[in-house]
Amino acid sequence: ASSDPDLVARARAAKEALGERVFVLGHHYQRDEVIQFADVTGDSFKLARDAAARPEAEYIVFCGVHFMAESADILTSPSQKVILPDLAAGCSMADMARLGQVEDAWDALADAGVQDQVVPITYMNSSADIKAFCGRNGGAVCTSSNADAALEWAFEQKQDIDGGAKIFFFPDQHLGRNTAVLKMGLSLEDCVVWNPLKLNGGLTVDQLRDAKMILWKGHCSVHGRFTPEVIDELRAKDPEINILVHPECTYEVVTKADLVGSTEFIIKTIEAAPSGSSWAIGTELNLVKRLADAHPDKNIAFLEKTVCFCSTMNRIDLPHLVWALESLVAGTEVNVIEVDADTKREADVALQRMLDLPG
Ligand code: 13P
Ligand code: SF4
Repeated sequence: ASSDPDLVARARAAKEALGERVFVLGHHYQRDEVIQFADVTGDSFKLARDAAARPEAEYIVFCGVHFMAESADILTSPSQKVILPDLAAGCSMADMARLGQVEDAWDALADAGVQDQVVPITYMNSSADIKAFCGRNGGAVCTSSNADAALEWAFEQKQDIDGGAKIFFFPDQHLGRNTAVLKMGLSLEDCVVWNPLKLNGGLTVDQLRDAKMILWKGHCSVHGRFTPEVIDELRAKDPEINILVHPECTYEVVTKADLVGSTEFIIKTIEAAPSGSSWAIGTELNLVKRLADAHPDKNIAFLEKTVCFCSTMNRIDLPHLVWALESLVAGTEVNVIEVDADTKREADVALQRMLDLPG
């Protein structure tokens, strides 16, 4: 479907017909065939801000995944509608933390006598009801581009409490651990992993008392594929190669890399890299391919031997985008993502705390 000229022409015509009424956002992991129609592209933080900065658009068509469209709905005005071209575009990591599980864990922290010390922080990659949970329990949202500022903020919230502050971080254990250890100076021993499938997370009361970071046992299936062994192989072949990875990769991968950051950081790093430099990038393949195409003067490789796209990001393809846009032209709204009012209000509190972070 990618270069079907008929679909390209139809998408162009529908966008033109809708004019300023529609604003199309595209996450960096989207397919080329879709990204060409994005009015702005970005990482999840930038897209959340961009969605909020378009009050004149009646429709935000979100080419990304479900939790991003929900966040856009929370941050935009009530009259604006957010559309996700394929409702099957979820995120397997976000699905690893359900509200009921998080609430059970929260109760268990109370039973262990530590809940008063804990600030909950959820990664953007989570459902709106989990963001709302953080909003009503003194916590915040973070993305991969501001996780360090969010952790710093969280520790400050409880800095004077007996026993010391703790953070309950979900759903991505890797972003939590990498940020705590590599950016905040905590040790690996300060971090414990809460397994929602085990009684009391599989942790003892003593472990919970000693921990500074309680990490949810969740991960990204795409970034979990990168391994330290491939980094070793690439360095053996080319000692000059630079390894650039996303913080959803494991601690072992991130500690072996030269640079780590969000998708926006990865793009800026490659743009600023000197001609002739060599890079292996550990993030989703659509983005890595696009960077390689845009920078033929640099040697850009994928940090994996097998193909690894985010299958849910890839659900948004040109036929779905054309369908969503043409439906709007015809006066029919399809796939509107609408968060209920109570959830919206509480999730907004947690999102605003993130947007207010310094930097
Ligand atoms: P960022 O957009 O924050 O870099 O996150 C990547 C991601 O996995 C989005 O799903
Ligand atoms: Fe979720 Fe990973 Fe896909 Fe991002 S890349 S949407 S975290 S599964």
